[in-house]
Amino acid sequence: MEAISKNFFLYLSNNKVLDRLAKRFGANFGADKIVGGETISQAIPLIQQLNHEGLHVTVDHLGEFVYSEEEAKERTQECIRSIQAIAHHGLQSEVSLKLTSLGLDISHELVMENMELILQEAGKHDITVTIDMEDSARCGPTLDIYKELKATYPNLGTVVQSYLYRSDQDLDDLSPYDPYLRLVKGAYKESGKVAFPEKRLVDDNLKHLIKKNLLNGHYTAIASHDDAIIDFTKQLVQDHNIPNDRFEFQMLYGMRNETQAKLAEEGYKVRVYMPYGEDWYGYFMRRLAERPANIAFAMKGIFSK
Ligand code: FDA
Repeated sequence: MEAISKNFFLYLSNNKVLDRLAKRFGANFGADKIVGGETISQAIPLIQQLNHEGLHVTVDHLGEFVYSEEEAKERTQECIRSIQAIAHHGLQSEVSLKLTSLGLDISHELVMENMELILQEAGKHDITVTIDMEDSARCGPTLDIYKELKATYPNLGTVVQSYLYRSDQDLDDLSPYDPYLRLVKGAYKESGKVAFPEKRLVDDNLKHLIKKNLLNGHYTAIASHDDAIIDFTKQLVQDHNIPNDRFEFQMLYGMRNETQAKLAEEGYKVRVYMPYGEDWYGYFMRRLAERPANIAFAMKGIFSK
């Protein structure tokens, strides 16, 4: 049953007609509980509140799979505006982005040009940028771009997904770059040819990658809502005397708020990933696919309107 609902919501996440309808009607159906608004100005008071509660943030302008150069340039400008807003308001926030929104599927030159513009602006304000990881077809090109840019722009992070067989090798290949990595399980629909089909193996591999990256001495973001992963990390850092400033926990905006607060109270660094923008539909559907309980949460959103 869980697999059916997962596939159903992943299928809906790619439905262009529903995506267009969603844009027309605005963030609704509970999406506003997990999205920080449609504009960066709407997100700012929410980030201020989270910072006030001792939580760090990373903002992500929603949108992916852009196929027009003009749109990729507009998305680049939006990232730059969000960096300027973070600097202007003195917020504790990074910026996350997806390379397909900046022209990855159009040309290497375009995506590099756009990334350089963003990273130069971020560099001026000492703001870190992290590149999200998308589906497995984009994993190799994304990591190549990360490596190409990391030497010039040290405040750059990216993501490794534990459901991919390749990730252990990717950690070895990234290690010479002293990467800032966000380690996640992975959110896209992937075939058994590239990804572990069993959740247990994905979970085990995430623990393996967390241990490997931390023991390699690289700053690590453990991005999971799973208590088993969080407890594993706490035990690991205690056993190996890894100080709290070498890692952080990350969770999505609106998910497990009490756990976020508790971890921060315990002295751990916690970062909340806050998406914003009009393109909330695909993001919202992927969250529903991940966790059927989010459906009840969304239904409450509909009825409380
Ligand atoms: P998982 O879904 O495996 O659930 C395990 C258990 O955790 C559940 O059984 C439940 O007990 C608990 N749990 C999970 N969610 C909960 C909730 N909302 N409330 C209460 N309990 C809950 N993916 C990707 O492919 N590329 C990327 O760039 C990113 N980026 C990213 C950033 C951040 C900050 C996060 C947190 C996640 C991502 N992801 C991602 C998504 C990630 O790959 C993954 O799909 C989700 O985090 C779901 O996996 P979890 O490990 O959180 O728990």
